[in-house]
Parts: sequence; C-alpha cells; structure tokens
Amino acid sequence: MAMTDYLNDMPAQGNRKVVLVGTGFVGMSMAYTLMNHKGIDELVLVDVNTEKAEGEAMDLVHGLPYANGKLKVYAGDYSDCTDANVIVVTAGAAQKPGQTRLELVAINTKIMASVGKSIKESGFNGVIVVASNPCDIMTYVMQKATGLHPYQVLGSGTMLDTARLRYEIGNFFEVNPASVHGYIMGEHGDSSFVSWTNSYIGCKSLLEVVEERKVPFDQLQRIYEQVRDAAYEIINKKRATYYGIGMSLARLVDAILNNENTVLPLSCYLEGQYGHEGLYIGVPAIINRAGIREILTLPLTESDQEKFDRSCSTLQEIINTTVT
Ligand code: 2OP
Repeated sequence: MAMTDYLNDMPAQGNRKVVLVGTGFVGMSMAYTLMNHKGIDELVLVDVNTEKAEGEAMDLVHGLPYANGKLKVYAGDYSDCTDANVIVVTAGAAQKPGQTRLELVAINTKIMASVGKSIKESGFNGVIVVASNPCDIMTYVMQKATGLHPYQVLGSGTMLDTARLRYEIGNFFEVNPASVHGYIMGEHGDSSFVSWTNSYIGCKSLLEVVEERKVPFDQLQRIYEQVRDAAYEIINKKRATYYGIGMSLARLVDAILNNENTVLPLSCYLEGQYGHEGLYIGVPAIINRAGIREILTLPLTESDQEKFDRSCSTLQEIINTTVT
C-alpha cells in the first residue's frame, strides 16, 4: 500500500506525546517501561477512575529523577488526545481464571465504543493501539467508533504470543530469543497458530534444525500449546498477565514514534491479504509513524491457510452476532 493521505495531517513528531487510556496493570506496566525509554516527551494517563490515574501519575513522577528526567507525566482527559501521536487503549474488563478472551466481548465492546467516541471528539489524528481483549475484535470496534483510516488503528494482536513463542523456542534450542524468527498468527486467542514453515533460527529454517537434531515434531506442537495456554496458566497462578504485554506495548510505541518501519505481528485490517477482508487479525506488518505501512503476506501451507481461515471465521462470526 502506498503512503496514505492522512499522513500529512498527523501530529508533528517534535513533541512525542503518548496517551494511555486505562491505568490498570497492563497500562501501567507499559507506562513504567516507557519511563525507562528515552524516546518519549509526554505521557498522559486517562482513566474513568480519575483518582486512580492521578495516583499512578504521582507514583511514576517520583521515579523521574532516576530515569528520563525530561519526560512529562500527568493524569489528563480526552482533550489531551488532540495533539497526541499515539493513544494506547488498555481499558476494559480482564479475563478471570477459566474465562476465554472472547467471553469479554460484550462488556468491552461497550467500553471501546465509548472510548472511541471520546477520542473522535478530541480530533485525534495519530495512531491508536488497542490491547483490550478480545484484542482483534476490540480493534475493529475502535476503528469503527473513531472512523480513522483502518491502518491508523491496530491491535497488539499476536505480538505477545510471538514473544512467548520466541522465548520458548530459544529456551528449548538454547538460542537467544532475539535470534529466533517466526510468528504466531491469527486471533490473539485460542484459534491462533504458528507458521512453522516460516520460522527460523538465524537464517536457518527451524524445520531443518528440528530434523538435524532429531527433535520429534510433537515437541513443536507442545511448544505451541504452551504458548497458546500461557495466559490461562499465569492468570490461574497470579490472576492477571501484565509485564509481557507491557513490554510488548512499549516496544510497539517506540516503533511508531521512531518511524522505524519494523516488522511486528499485530492485529491489522485485512483488505484481501491471505484471502480475507474487512476484519482485524494477527499478521506480520511493517510499522511506522503512520501505523500499519504494509502487511506482509507469507506463503502459507494449505493446512496453515485452513487454520488462518478458521481463525478469521471465528472472529467474523462474533463480529456479525455481537458487534454489528
Ligand atoms: C495475555 O495473553 C491475557 O491476552 C492476555 O496475556
């Protein structure tokens, strides 16, 4: 896709301003991570519970003398979105033990629609990142509510699942996860899948490594299942997940603010890629200050394409029955 028209009207990058909507554990883990990055100038915390946002801002600023002293951190409201570069939305209910992400759709759709309306009224024209679950559907709701270009709105999607995958593969093969390349694709949820034929250790195909080391293919399936079920396990043990997603969101905000053109697996709006259109789902994409610059289409095996199709149908059915 060519550079989009909205790019010329986006806020200048002189003052790098991020607004966080939702100051729960996920949002605050991102905020805390961003405090330790040098690439942002202003961080505004917005929450329906204004006292919570104020308390969190007070707590964060007391760390500034030992971190990024020039950063401005404060509690604000939707009027702060007007000249922001990036808004990160983590508001909404989180999974309870035993609950799937998809079970949050009804309650969080209402919250996303209302947050989206307030963002629209502010005149915001930057990039929105949605992390609330079910992430792919909440991203769709946010785009509809704001009316922004579909490439200006994206979801954290399978970025965290992919980090979990890289960690587990790195751990198994005793390789730094930064040298593991591959993606979890599809829904950020139970119908996700790994494209093993597009997975690498360095430049070497993971499937070749597996064959050379005589690792049974079942082992890869076990790694995938561990990744797919990681959130359930963590929620059972500590009631919530937030550090992994906080780090992922901070990395994504950096990629947008620094106009990096970095490839990340995110919930992106499909316009015919992989044979689907009109919905958000996890695929690798080139990310820069415009949001999604371009979706990468990987060659999928027939069985992976079927998994992708099933994941799309799962999401589309929920959109049809619950959202529209
Ligand atoms: C996670 O995967 C719950 O979506 C959240 O950690």
